[in-house]
Amino acid sequence: MIISASSDYRTAAQRRLPPFLFHYIDGGAYAEHTLRRNEADLAAIALRQRVLRDMGELSLETELFGQPLAMPVALAPVGLTGMYARRGELQAARAADSRGVPFTLSTVSVCAIEEVAPALQQPMWFQLYVLRDRGFMRNALERAQAAGVSTLVFTVDMPVPGARYRDAHSGMSGPRAALRRFGQALTHARWAWDVGVRGKPHDLGNISVYRGHPTGLADYIGWLGSNFDPSISWKDLEWIRAFWKGPMVIKGILDAEDARDAVSFGADGIVVSNHGGRQLDGVLSTARALPQIADAVQGDLKILVDSGIRNGLDVVRMLALGADTVLLGRAFVYALATHGQAGVANLLDLVAREMRVAMTLTGARRIADIGRHCLVQA
Ligand code: GLV
Repeated sequence: MIISASSDYRTAAQRRLPPFLFHYIDGGAYAEHTLRRNEADLAAIALRQRVLRDMGELSLETELFGQPLAMPVALAPVGLTGMYARRGELQAARAADSRGVPFTLSTVSVCAIEEVAPALQQPMWFQLYVLRDRGFMRNALERAQAAGVSTLVFTVDMPVPGARYRDAHSGMSGPRAALRRFGQALTHARWAWDVGVRGKPHDLGNISVYRGHPTGLADYIGWLGSNFDPSISWKDLEWIRAFWKGPMVIKGILDAEDARDAVSFGADGIVVSNHGGRQLDGVLSTARALPQIADAVQGDLKILVDSGIRNGLDVVRMLALGADTVLLGRAFVYALATHGQAGVANLLDLVAREMRVAMTLTGARRIADIGRHCLVQA
């Protein structure tokens, strides 16, 4: 039975998924110190309990870049979401849509922009990397614009891929990976039938559309690995800023000076992120990085944050530390892997319920009331 947003779906997902997929979403880089810190530092932040303050009327509603949100939460871009449930991006996006929060499609999704965006009531968000293949970037931006995507989330913390040792152990990469993945599918029959057979094609949809031929999972690591561009700098982003008319959010900021550079660049927002502990192991958790960044740029652009947020209490903590909106990544993928669209919708309901409890007992009636005064030194 699913009773908590944070851990029950993860446990259920581990049972359902072939290990290569579970560990790909669950794992981080190197020894996973930052992955663990993200959760531990956040959990250690103490909320300040207040009582008897007439909390009868509570609202989670907010607004970001002119878009109304039922709560200050969006689904993060997660590569290969369509391997976790049948046409997974579409299911997760529909769940987000039904709960009034935005869905962000990853560049390396299974479902293409054109499969997901038209199925939604609200505008979708789209994530793009800096890639060597600028033709692909331009093509993706044009297609996103044509599909009515509102917000561009531009990932900048992947000039090189982080070393994910779990992936080599689990069969996601490494020797005889395809054979090992096939063997794992055989012993995970529900996943194999629902996703492995009925969820096809397992393309990288956006890249297949661009190339004009299928780009399968086997190409994922290869295509991405050969396409990262370590020579990238702010000036390489200028044509994108000029091209993209809607809000542009820079994802992967962990330092106050980089956040100031994002303001100078003209970004509408940043995502304070260490990529869920999947890039440089040893960097600060986002819970610890966020307050200094908020002090440096709050009011100049919108501050989004991810990495380690698993439930509604974590959302309130991040808002108290200075975020305007949070992104949920792993948390929604565990729910999607377990119960598809209904699982993600339920997860969002749980998050909202947990937020209501936290707001009631910290004395915050509205999202704008949540601030550092809702925290106490532990
Ligand atoms: C891709 O962005 C990943 O973290 O695997």
